[in-house]
Amino acid sequence: MPDTNLPLCIIGAGGFGREVLCLYIDICRQQGKEYKGTVIFAEEDAFWKERTIMDTPVLALSAIRNEPYRFVIAIGNPNVRRHIADTMPTSTRWATLIHPSAIMSDWVTLGTGSIICAGVILTCNISLGRHTHLNLNTTVGHDMTAGDFLTTAPGVAISGNCSFADNVYIGSNAAIREKTTVAGNVTIGMGAIVVKDIFEHGIYAGNPARKIS
Ligand SMILES: CC(C)(COP(=O)(O)OP(=O)(O)OC[C@H]1O[C@@H](n2cnc3c(N)ncnc32)[C@H](O)[C@@H]1OP(=O)(O)O)[C@@H](O)C(=O)NCCC(=O)NCCS
Repeated sequence: MPDTNLPLCIIGAGGFGREVLCLYIDICRQQGKEYKGTVIFAEEDAFWKERTIMDTPVLALSAIRNEPYRFVIAIGNPNVRRHIADTMPTSTRWATLIHPSAIMSDWVTLGTGSIICAGVILTCNISLGRHTHLNLNTTVGHDMTAGDFLTTAPGVAISGNCSFADNVYIGSNAAIREKTTVAGNVTIGMGAIVVKDIFEHGIYAGNPARKIS
């Protein structure tokens, strides 16, 4: 059976998990496929409580991690996402979900396990790593590269020629100047205006963005 016909398991049944379920339903509708019965939620056992959310069962991750699903991790925090990805079996089939309204040229490469939400625009010559999350209406300019586990919140604007290491989180409506380098494990606050390279891990916010911790 081709991987794309396997049912989907969304790891994380919180707010973003529910949004990812809606994204998946939009993809199915666009393809004329029925989504019911083809998707479940899973949670790490320590957080799991048996229940149904939006008509979709929530299962313990340990019970299904070796089953023939395609998986995505719908958890915004890059470090939590990395932890879960690292503890899944090496044979895990990761799904990549791209909302039908996203605009991407043929000159974009996207790592496996990524989630691209509605209204995202990626122009050309862009390379994004594994388990990237681009939330609603994020825009990414030409020649941008990012490592693994990048998360953007809604409305982020990343200009051309930027270069990000792994585990970068960018809050809502932040803007990144062209040709900016961002180190790994950096959090950029909502509304930040980043005009200089960021070489050290930490939390940055404000206009112009400065380290706040
Ligand atoms: C930057 C951020 C990570 C800091 O969170 P935190 O470490 O819990 O920090 P605090 O809320 O304790 O704030 C610390 C200081 O920074 C200031 N600050 C916090 N966020 C700020 C922001 N985005 N811009 C400017 N200043 C900010 C606070 O006012 C506070 O200042 P003070 O010490 O003078 O009182 C968080 O505020 C943020 O912006 N997160 C992104 C939210 C988001 O985009 N969510 C989208 C969900 S889809």
